[in-house]
Amino acid sequence: MTITIDTDTRRLFVETNGNKQELDLYSDEAFRVISDLYLKVGWNQKYTYTFSWMGRPMIQLPDDMLRLQELIYDLKPDVIVETGIAHGGSLIFYASLCKAMNKGRVLGIDIEIRPHNRSAIEAHEMFPLITMIEGSSVDNQIIEEVKNNVGDAETVLVILDSNHTYDHVLKELELYSGLVTPGSYIVSTDGVMRDVADVPRGEPDWVTDNPANAAEDFVKANPDFSIGEPTWPFNESTLSGNITHWPSAFIRRNG
Ligand SMILES: C[S@@+](CC[C@H](N)C(=O)[O-])C[C@H]1O[C@@H](n2cnc3c(N)ncnc32)[C@H](O)[C@@H]1O
Repeated sequence: MTITIDTDTRRLFVETNGNKQELDLYSDEAFRVISDLYLKVGWNQKYTYTFSWMGRPMIQLPDDMLRLQELIYDLKPDVIVETGIAHGGSLIFYASLCKAMNKGRVLGIDIEIRPHNRSAIEAHEMFPLITMIEGSSVDNQIIEEVKNNVGDAETVLVILDSNHTYDHVLKELELYSGLVTPGSYIVSTDGVMRDVADVPRGEPDWVTDNPANAAEDFVKANPDFSIGEPTWPFNESTLSGNITHWPSAFIRRNG
């Protein structure tokens, strides 16, 4: 792909496999082209490895967390379950929203909670709203522990951010979708892998081996669920569609 930007004439030219397109630089279409490239270059440069929430590293694109915040405030879940804790920043982000809403709690699962991460999370102001379970998210015993912890909560939101292979995410979707209550979501993060397969830090097989493909195949086999980004609660622009590392991520349980 060749992208040429002329800021003097305010035109953006895209050429893909011999197909040429000329766009007004100050248009929604041009913003999408520029954003897609920003996402690819930023992913390669580990832009998401530069953020933290209330002192803990949070390995996410801020756009995605703000969009997720919109959903959390709308749903006001009783329990937010997340697979993949790492340094704990995302768990603390959800817990801080629960604290501010005076509703909900957070359950995190990770195959390895490193001692320094565990002690920092346990010492954090938000820890009273957080439970952590150590083990593989797809292990039967861990699933039982998760189910027991969630109990009969009225509204449950699930976020999948552990191992991002197609097989693992599909298995998580099958195992955790049962926890999701009607009208709520299971969010299959990091489908951006399929769009960054060709960047220097990418892997060629990510074109198919990624969470977005797992999500799309999951909904084909499970008609109770559908993929769609929640509507923006505020939008005084002509833009639509998230700037995201999470394509095909928001899977809603119809109801
Ligand atoms: C991308 S990081 C999570 C980032 C975190 N959610 C955040 O926003 O900062 C992925 C985590 O998944 C964990 N993980 C990998 N395989 C797993 C598995 N089978 N079950 C549970 N966690 C797993 C890793 O140990 C790692 O901490």
